[in-house]
This record gives sequence, structure tokens and C-alpha cells, in this order.
Amino acid sequence: MKDCGIVIRKINADDALAVSDIERQSFAGDFWSAGLVDGEIKSPSSVGVVAEVSGVVAAYAFFRAADDEAELLRIAVSGPFRRMKIASRLFLFAVGILKDMGVKKIFLEVRAGNAAAKAFYEGRGFSFVSVRRAYYDDGEDGDIMRLDLNGKN
Ligand SMILES: CC(C)(COP(=O)(O)OP(=O)(O)OC[C@H]1O[C@@H](n2cnc3c(N)ncnc32)[C@H](O)[C@@H]1OP(=O)(O)O)[C@@H](O)C(=O)NCCC(=O)NCCS
Repeated sequence: MKDCGIVIRKINADDALAVSDIERQSFAGDFWSAGLVDGEIKSPSSVGVVAEVSGVVAAYAFFRAADDEAELLRIAVSGPFRRMKIASRLFLFAVGILKDMGVKKIFLEVRAGNAAAKAFYEGRGFSFVSVRRAYYDDGEDGDIMRLDLNGKN
């Protein structure tokens, strides 16, 4: 997928460092090192995608797929590129790949206080399923959300 200098594509091992940099900006106390990102890229059940702007990795997402279900593990956009619909486009691209793999529903867990991410997910059609009390190390609750891929996405 390519227009206006934005290229959206599957992730590869060369992206590990750039993705880890965005991780560091986006998930301060809990970021994935380049080594962890590299491990995720190589995991057989992992589906990773990136968006490049003018040749620089500006966003990424990782899913884990098994049978007809996938989990969205991570999605983040580098600070200066937020609110430009990059995550929306990245997500749509990933959904296309997942559908081709036979995935019918996507689950995710999001910090209850992460209003930006929750608004983003709701806009993509996710709905709230349940809360995991004190799921995160710092005691914050985790909201579980679900999206059914029924042809509309
Ligand atoms: C959540 C995140 C991935 C959204 O990326 P993005 O490229 O800025 O999102 P988009 O531009 O595609 O936004 C699409 C819609 O989502 C909602 N949204 C996105 N960011 C929002 C924010 N900060 N506040 C409120 N709504 C927001 C809006 O409805 C937006 O549409 P609009 O801009 O027309 O109002 C980005 O803010 C991010 O990287 N956050 C840090 C990492 C993170 O928390 N990831 C999720 C947890 S794993």
C-alpha cells in the first residue's frame, strides 16, 4: 500500500531497531527492546506490519494469530506522526492479512486509562468485553476488547 510518501508493508528483521525506538517512546516502563522485537518478528504465529513515512518507520503493529482468532499485542505510532490516520491504515492493512489467514475475531487488552487507544479501538469497531482488575504491574486495570471480522472491516 503506497501513497503520499506512506508505505505500509509487512515487518522484517531490519525493522527491529526502529520499532524498538517507537516502543521506548510509547510504552515508557514496559517497552520491548530490539531483541524482544526481533524475537516477535521471528515467531511463527506473529503477524507484524509497519508504516514508513518517507522511508522512515513511523508505526507498527503486532498480532498473534491462532486458528480463527488473533490478539493485537502492540500498535504504536511515533509521536510526530500521530492523528494522521496512520494507525487506522496500518490496522486495515493488517486486518486484510488476518482475514486471508482465516481469522474471524480479534481480541486485545488495553490499559483502562489509555483514552487515546480506547477511542482508536472503538473507532475500528472493537467493543468492551470485560475488565481484568490490576492486570498491569503498576496495578492498573486492563480492558479486554473484541472485534468480529464480519466483512465490514
Ligand atoms: C493509539 C495510537 C496507536 C493511535 O494512532 P494514530 O495514528 O494517532 O491514530 P489515527 O490517526 O489513525 O486515529 C484514528 C482515530 O482514533 C481516535 N484517536 C486517536 N488518537 C486519539 C487521541 N489521542 N485522543 C482521542 N482519540 C484518538 C480518533 O477517533 C481518531 O480519529 P480523528 O483523528 O479523526 O479524531 C497512538 O496514539 C499511539 O501510538 N499511542 C501510544 C501507544 C499506545 O497506547 N498503543 C495502544 C496500546 S497497545
